[in-house]
Amino acid sequence: MRKAAEIRSKLLQWYDANARELPWRVPPNARRRANPYHVWLSEIMLQQTTVTAVKPYFEAFTKRWPNVAALAAAKDEDVLAAWAGLGYYARARNLLKCARVVAKSGFPEDEASLLALPGVGPYTAAAIAAIAYGEAAVVVDGNIERVMARLFDERVALPAVKPKLKVRAAELTPQNRAGDHAQALMDLGATICIPKAPRCAGCPLLEACAAFKAGTAAELPKRLPKKPKPTRRGIAYFARRPDGHVLLETRPPKGLLGGMLGLVGSEWAEGAPVFDPPFAASWQQKDEDITHVFTHFNLLLTLYVAEPMVANPRAGSFVSAPAADDLPSIMRKAYEAGFLICNIDHTAALGQYSEKQDEK
Ligand code: ADE
Repeated sequence: MRKAAEIRSKLLQWYDANARELPWRVPPNARRRANPYHVWLSEIMLQQTTVTAVKPYFEAFTKRWPNVAALAAAKDEDVLAAWAGLGYYARARNLLKCARVVAKSGFPEDEASLLALPGVGPYTAAAIAAIAYGEAAVVVDGNIERVMARLFDERVALPAVKPKLKVRAAELTPQNRAGDHAQALMDLGATICIPKAPRCAGCPLLEACAAFKAGTAAELPKRLPKKPKPTRRGIAYFARRPDGHVLLETRPPKGLLGGMLGLVGSEWAEGAPVFDPPFAASWQQKDEDITHVFTHFNLLLTLYVAEPMVANPRAGSFVSAPAADDLPSIMRKAYEAGFLICNIDHTAALGQYSEKQDEK
């Protein structure tokens, strides 16, 4: 397709003159390949973190662990500490897992084998294959999706349009300089074809851009309006004995907050919750439900509190007070609310008692 060839050529010309200088990057036309360790490390760091935030981390990591064998030999806690601030510790754990696989056999050199590495998904495998090995892999991240949606005026909303955008990206991917092509699209998306207010006047692809012609660039890619989150309801029971032990249970291993510690209570569902108290007592209902926002739903948790002298619970067991970190945040909220109610009551009870003593 002539138009594709023109777009590729204009894009690479623009990249040759405007490529961002990034510490993991080999400048265009340097006639050498990027170091796979650098490409891999930067791509893992860049997952959900900005280029600006990643730069100092990349520099610190490569100074301290100059190659993948050095990283593989590092102590877990040193790597996790050096990762602090980049977020998502699962990425750091996978980084180490992957380093230890790769240190034995070297980085695989094709997209399919890269995809089998821990922590390496389709985007990252394609990016490493293209940037480090020059494979004509189709690299598509959020920036590149936006560029494709505009270049071809794709008006179907995300996520349904994703496969179409990948086909568009594949049709444009060149056999030569696939790494520079991918990075040129990333840079274009980050500096010119930016969300909301694209800087079309400075775009090397302006003449080819269908959305620019149609006047739709600023509103693409379209996204379906977010579905309102459903509200789920639940009941939780906070019980504290005079010795300070509280009723807790370990949640089942599968499902939400699986294997974590929590208060005893009902399932969380959209209907009215039903769950009998774990033992007979005079349970006091907290005035206001506890609210928590999860990714896919809002939760309203009705809390009941009791302070039994003795109790034989049918669920959970009385344990010494957990550390705050031992509870997931919704359970910490419920725990703290329950604890506060108990403490207020204690103070009141103590107050009454001492007044009576004073009267004597
Ligand atoms: N974002 C993710 N990977 C990138 C790269 N290699 N260059 C620039 N921006 C990026």
